Amino acid sequence: MQPYQEFLSEILIDEADLQRRIAELGAEISRDYQNAEGNLVLVCILRGGVVFMVDLMRHITVRHQVDFMAVSSYGSGARQTSGSVRLSLDLQTDICGKDVLLVEDIVDSGNTIAYVLEFLQTRQPRSLKVCALLDKEERRETPVPIDYCGFKIANKFVFGYGLDLDEYYRNLPFVAVVDVNKYRPPA
Ligand code: IMP
Ligand code: MG
Repeated sequence: MQPYQEFLSEILIDEADLQRRIAELGAEISRDYQNAEGNLVLVCILRGGVVFMVDLMRHITVRHQVDFMAVSSYGSGARQTSGSVRLSLDLQTDICGKDVLLVEDIVDSGNTIAYVLEFLQTRQPRSLKVCALLDKEERRETPVPIDYCGFKIANKFVFGYGLDLDEYYRNLPFVAVVDVNKYRPPA
């Protein structure tokens, strides 16, 4: 028995459904960016977006670059996003004039994406869009545009497929819901 079985309440999105939807998103992005050939930069927001991005990029048929950035939220517990977000790892790529597509695991309050959009906009990309695997619409505090969305989900804490539970379980191939009454954070 896997250790997470104890607090896994349900598998919300299984591997087959994730992979099917990601292939669709990749095809849609490839069509939309046909004329941006060579100018597209996928920007992964670490660490949650990394599993999604490596699968997504293999379904994108237009030539593109990838880069990574990381942000941290302050002022509240790990499972609550506060309004204050700070850059902790910057891009290596000059995105001026580029077609930037942000790749994020989940949009919850919207604060992270709102901050990143505002920050990247100052570098004058030719275009700036958002691709999020999951959208917890109900939790939104800051309205943000999601140009490509994998799945809209209910307001439940999820883990797996890049999303962590106290930094663990990002490797799971599915998205699962935590039973908060059974989960004990690591000491
Ligand atoms: P936002 O700034 O509130 O939109 O939060 C976005 C970030 O919070 C995501 O990039 C995730 O890292 C984290 N997050 C929000 N909801 C969940 C969840 O259900 N499971 C794991 N991480 C989450
Ligand atoms: Mg994240």
